[in-house]
Amino acid sequence: MARRQTSDALRTRPRTTRRPEHLTEQRSRPPIVELRRVTKVYPGGHVGLEHVSLRVDRGEFVFLVGPTGCGKTTLIKTLIREIRPTEGEVLIAGRDIASLSDKKVPQLRRRIGTVFQDYKLLPNRSVYDNVAYALQVIGASRSEIRKKVPDALRLVGLADKVKNYPDQLSGGNLDPNTSIGIMQVLYRINRTGTTVVVVTHDREMVDKMRRRVIQLDSGRVVRDQAAGTYTSDDESTREFARRVREEMGLDDESPAY
Ligand SMILES: Nc1ncnc2c1ncn2[C@@H]1O[C@H](COP(=O)(O)OP(=O)(O)OP(=O)(O)O)[C@@H](O)[C@H]1O
Ligand SMILES: [Mg+2]
Repeated sequence: MARRQTSDALRTRPRTTRRPEHLTEQRSRPPIVELRRVTKVYPGGHVGLEHVSLRVDRGEFVFLVGPTGCGKTTLIKTLIREIRPTEGEVLIAGRDIASLSDKKVPQLRRRIGTVFQDYKLLPNRSVYDNVAYALQVIGASRSEIRKKVPDALRLVGLADKVKNYPDQLSGGNLDPNTSIGIMQVLYRINRTGTTVVVVTHDREMVDKMRRRVIQLDSGRVVRDQAAGTYTSDDESTREFARRVREEMGLDDESPAY
């Protein structure tokens, strides 16, 4: 996820005059994320990504899908420079992140917030401390933490639960353990102007949300579809036809319907 910020070191050129927001967003600002023919070959020769080119604009909501091992995590990790591409460029807000000094990388990671599936809450710390700790890990200052934690908790409807412990969160609040709860949170975050990229295997959720879908297969982009579904319509048609054939006891060559 890329946070929208008004002042940050990654901005490519200073904005001197204020322009109407929609013009600024649409015409003069580079995409928040751009990959140019990015290839990642892991030691041992495993190909993580192969010639991946894509752009994500500010404020978009994108699902990144594809079978296990297709390169989703590799792609996300290239955005925060946890992985450096073997070839190609990753640009964040128009800037090639390969040229960032190591000192600037924590700043990049604060801007591109990533939440991995295996993220765990600390059970013996309050809600407030859990969020504060997560911010501390990515190098936020104390004053930033003091300012941001209440905002974040308000956003997810937990403003009155700061002193509670993780196991006391249930009932009327968004349940971060369900994919619906997670989607609601991400949707709200997106509504504040933040770009959201969700890596998922949750077909039902992708089909319900009808957002842009980027599909990888063996490290390559095989589909990039606006308002898409988990699998392309072609694929679902083929899958449907296959099931019908199976149920009707037809062989693979005969038309199913
Ligand atoms: N550290 C590594 N060393 C060698 N090969 C790796 C490494 N990390 C990933 N790979 C390989 O790169 C390819 C892409 O892996 P990646 O983890 O990006 O897939 P993924 O789409 O995130 O899969 P999943 O849906 O299971 O999370 C796979 O073939 C994987 O085996
Ligand atoms: Mg993965």
